[in-house]
Amino acid sequence: APQAIRRICCVGAGYVGGPTCTVIAQNCPDITVTIVDVNPVRIAAWNSAPDAEGRLSGLPVYEPGLAEIVLACRGKNLFFSTEIDKAIEEADLVFVSVNTPTKKSGVGAGFAADLHYVESSTRRIAAVATSSKIIVEKSTVPCRTAASMRTILESNSRPGVRFDILSNPEFLAEGTAIPDLQSPDRVLIGSLDTNEGREAAARLSAVYEHWVPKHKVYTTGLWSSELSKLAANALLAQRISSVNAMAAICEATGADVDEVAHACGLDGRIGPKFLKASVGFGGSCFQKDILNLVYLSESLSLPQVADYWRQVITMNEWSKSRFAQKVVQTLFNTITMKKVAVLGFAFKKNTGDTRESAAISLCRYFRQENALVTIYDPKVPEAQIWMDLTEPGVVDDSIEVRKQITLAPSAVAACVDAEAIVIATEWDEFKELDWASIYAGMKKPAFLFDGRGIVDAKLLRKIGFKVHSVGKGP
Ligand code: NAD
Ligand code: UGA
Repeated sequence: APQAIRRICCVGAGYVGGPTCTVIAQNCPDITVTIVDVNPVRIAAWNSAPDAEGRLSGLPVYEPGLAEIVLACRGKNLFFSTEIDKAIEEADLVFVSVNTPTKKSGVGAGFAADLHYVESSTRRIAAVATSSKIIVEKSTVPCRTAASMRTILESNSRPGVRFDILSNPEFLAEGTAIPDLQSPDRVLIGSLDTNEGREAAARLSAVYEHWVPKHKVYTTGLWSSELSKLAANALLAQRISSVNAMAAICEATGADVDEVAHACGLDGRIGPKFLKASVGFGGSCFQKDILNLVYLSESLSLPQVADYWRQVITMNEWSKSRFAQKVVQTLFNTITMKKVAVLGFAFKKNTGDTRESAAISLCRYFRQENALVTIYDPKVPEAQIWMDLTEPGVVDDSIEVRKQITLAPSAVAACVDAEAIVIATEWDEFKELDWASIYAGMKKPAFLFDGRGIVDAKLLRKIGFKVHSVGKGP
């Protein structure tokens, strides 16, 4: 049997590192897990005390089920710390789970992944390690990043210290991170095809096998593993853009996109999941990872492949602006000084994350049309909404923004006196609102634009609403 892993360090206490390593700690009481970050505020939040009801409400990441596990394991075999060097030194295995955003400047700006954080954490590992370790790429990275990491580690390591590099991409989705981690469809581990590489993969596999059935651990070469992560996200996003393209045809023909998606999904080869038409996909990864794939294709002189994947993003941008335009057109071609209530600001339900959220694009669009926008989201902190709608560092537009945007404490409050409601996130609570009293409090005609296909349009029409749902005719 491969030598057991006893101490794990995770560099990066974000949406991935935090939940992933918390679930490892929960399932592996024999392993000590330390999650470290350069951001002391984030670490302090992970270490925050329970509230009066005994709940951990101050964690930096909201995921159903996460707080309970952190509470159970923290201080036992799970630690959050800013002492990065110490945690690296003590670990047998280090996850690199830092952010890999799209580059903002330089070569590949707007497409390529910014590998600065991966590189600086790799250099740090090389600099402080006094014993051999397995280094695991958890971040989503371009194909062949492991080769650069290996060169950096080998050129900077102390004598007698060896590093084995594995790729172990993460497939969790936000909002369902805990169930996704507890019973993943698969765990992917890529390694070099050498004895040492295979041995390292077996040691990491043994960690997962504490709770994941062995047949669900799939081991591949390093490059396949790295590329599979980009490929999986590209294929998932492509399904949404495909169904959103169908939604536009449905609206023009009277077909119903939910019926079309259901009919297609009954084909076992297509399958029913991930075919929900929407205002457009958001989230920190789909766009970033596809742009990364586009950049990779272009650098490999494969412009046709690049164009093919780029179209998934183009369709998504078009879906968002098509929806926003529909709002303006329907409100008699002007929303100037009209109150528009935006329900939901997170990029999907059950998360407080707003990265690339469609709601941001919609609010920007409505602002440009001089509307007065009122926003309600059950989980997104107010400061985050202000940050997303202003452009700090560029110009100080916060006063202007606050003239046009207000934040409401509830969905009902957001809709008072509104001319239109726009559902931007599919929060369950929006399905159960008291629509009759909301209708009574609105200007007439009262419009509702369902960007997520969650409300019962027939029922709302009976109340008096003029309803537009994505992918459904008038
Ligand atoms: P994040 O921004 O939430 O977290 C990254 C953390 O790394 C930050 O807290 C940052 O302070 C820290 N960090 C950066 N450089 C560091 C360094 N040198 N030393 C210590 N800490 C450092 O990002 P995330 O959403 O957790 O994503 C991390 C990676 O996982 C990305 O590559 C992303 O593509 C990938 N991924 C994300 C998701 C998701 O749902 N968010 C899912 C699968 C994969
Ligand atoms: C996605 C993938 O699902 C994960 O497997 C992957 O690990 C992750 O990206 C990542 O690499 O970061 P996530 O972005 O958290 O996860 O959430 P999704 O459930 O994929 O939703 C993404 C966006 O697509 C959301 O805005 C969602 O509302 C939208 N969506 C999703 C649709 O519009 N229709 C659908 O049918 C499904």
